[in-house]
Amino acid sequence: MKVLVLGSGGREHALAWSVARSKRVSEIVCAPGNGGMAQIGRCVPVDVKSIDAMVRLAEAEKPALVVVGPEVPLSLGIVDALEARGIRAFGPSKAAAQLEASKIFAKQFMQRHQIPTANFAICTDPNAIEKTLAVFHEPIVVKADGLSAGKGVLICETKPEAIAAARGLFDGSLLGAKVNQIVVEEFLTGDELSFLCLSDGAHVTPLAPSQDHKRVGEGDTGLNTGGMGVYSTDAMLDDEMKQWLLRHVAEPTVKGMAAEGAPFKGVLYCGLMMSPRGPQVLEYNARFGDPETQAILTRLESDLVDALEASIDGTLDTIEMSWKPGAAACVIACSAGYPGNYVKGLPITGLDAAAEGDDTVIFHSGTTLKDGQTVTDGGRVLGVTATAASLEEALGRAYATLARIHFEGIFFRRDIGHRALKKSAAVNRTTTTR
Ligand code: AMP
Ligand code: GLY
Repeated sequence: MKVLVLGSGGREHALAWSVARSKRVSEIVCAPGNGGMAQIGRCVPVDVKSIDAMVRLAEAEKPALVVVGPEVPLSLGIVDALEARGIRAFGPSKAAAQLEASKIFAKQFMQRHQIPTANFAICTDPNAIEKTLAVFHEPIVVKADGLSAGKGVLICETKPEAIAAARGLFDGSLLGAKVNQIVVEEFLTGDELSFLCLSDGAHVTPLAPSQDHKRVGEGDTGLNTGGMGVYSTDAMLDDEMKQWLLRHVAEPTVKGMAAEGAPFKGVLYCGLMMSPRGPQVLEYNARFGDPETQAILTRLESDLVDALEASIDGTLDTIEMSWKPGAAACVIACSAGYPGNYVKGLPITGLDAAAEGDDTVIFHSGTTLKDGQTVTDGGRVLGVTATAASLEEALGRAYATLARIHFEGIFFRRDIGHRALKKSAAVNRTTTTR
C-alpha cells in the first residue's frame, strides 16, 4: 500500500521510518518532507497550512492512508476534508483537535469531566487581569489560548511578572499577534510525563511512556523550546500508575469527547505533571509529540500501520502493540541561536560516518538537500536516537553518534535523561548501603 506522511520534522521522519518498516507498505510519499525523509520516500512540496493544497495532493497521489504529523493541519480540519473525499486519514477531526488547539476548551472540558488538572481561571478582558490574578499564589502560569508552537506558556515568579505577561499576550507584544483569551493557572511541581495513547473514538491503547526536556539549557534552565531531547523506559511508568492514568485521564477524555459529539481518533497526548497531589494534566496534544515520537517509535516492535488503521476503523481493542524492552533516548542537535534566531543552509558533515546500526537512527528535524548536500533548515536540526537494554547505554550510543556529526554552531544538551539517571543512582546507593 501507499502511505502519504504530512509534515517535515523529526516526528514525521520517525513516522515515515516506522511506516516503512511495515511489510504492507510499498510506497511512501512525504509532503513536504525533509533531507532525511527523502531517503525513505518521495518528497513533494506542500503547504501544510493549506487544506486545499493538501487535499489536491492527496487526490493526485491516491494514497491508501494519510498520516498527519503536525497540529496545524489537524486544527484546520485536514482529516475531515480528506474523509469527505473518501481518503483514509489518521488523526482527529477538527472538532476533536480542539483539545489541543484551544487551552480554554481543554480546561473547561477537564472540569466538566472531572479530569485532574491545575486550578485555573480564564481572562478575556485585559482590564480584568489584576482581578483574575488576585486569588493565585506565586509562581503563576499564564497561557495563550490558541496554538503558539510552545511559545504561549509563561511561567512567572511574581504577580507583577504575571500581569506583564498577560498584558504582553493581549497586546501582541509577546507573540507577535494579539491573543483574545488567556488561561491563568496555578504552578505545579513534579516530574513531567508524556503519556501518549492511541484512540479510535472509543478504545484507548497506551504507547510507551516518555519524558521530554523542554528547556534549552542543561539542568532545565533557559528558554522553553519545542523539545531538546527525550527518553523512554518502562521503569518510568509502572503498571499501577499506567492503569490509573488510563482510568482517570485517557479513558474519561475519550468518553467525554464522544459524549460531546466529537469522538477523538488519533494520538491523545496527555502532558502530565506527576505532582505531590497526584498526576495532573498540563495540556493535551492531538498528535504525536516531537521528539517523543522518535523515542517511542524506535521502541515499537509491532506494525505501526496496523495500529493507525485500527484507530481509523474503531478496532483498537483487537490489536496488541509490542515494545522493545529497555530504553530509547533521543538527543536533539540544534542551530546556534535556537530557540531565538538562527541561520539556515549550513552543510552538515559526518552523517555517513555516523553510520546507523539497528540501534541508532538519525532523524532529521530541520534539514534539506541542496545540490545533493544535506544542509540545516531549522532550529532543531537532527534527533539522534538510540535504543539499548538500559538508558545509560542508549544515551551513550546517541552521544557517541552525535560526536561524529558536525555543522557550524551545532549544540545539544549533554544531560538528556538526567532525572532518571539521578533516580537510578539514588536507588543503587540505597541498595549498596543496605
Ligand atoms: P504546555 O504547552 O501547556 O504543556 O506548557 C509547556 C510547559 O510549561 C510544560 O511542559 C511545563 O513544563 C510548563 N507548564 C505548563 N503548565 C504548567 C503548570 N501549571 N505548572 C508548572 N509548569 C507548567
Ligand atoms: N515535545 C512536546 C510536543 O510535541 O508538544
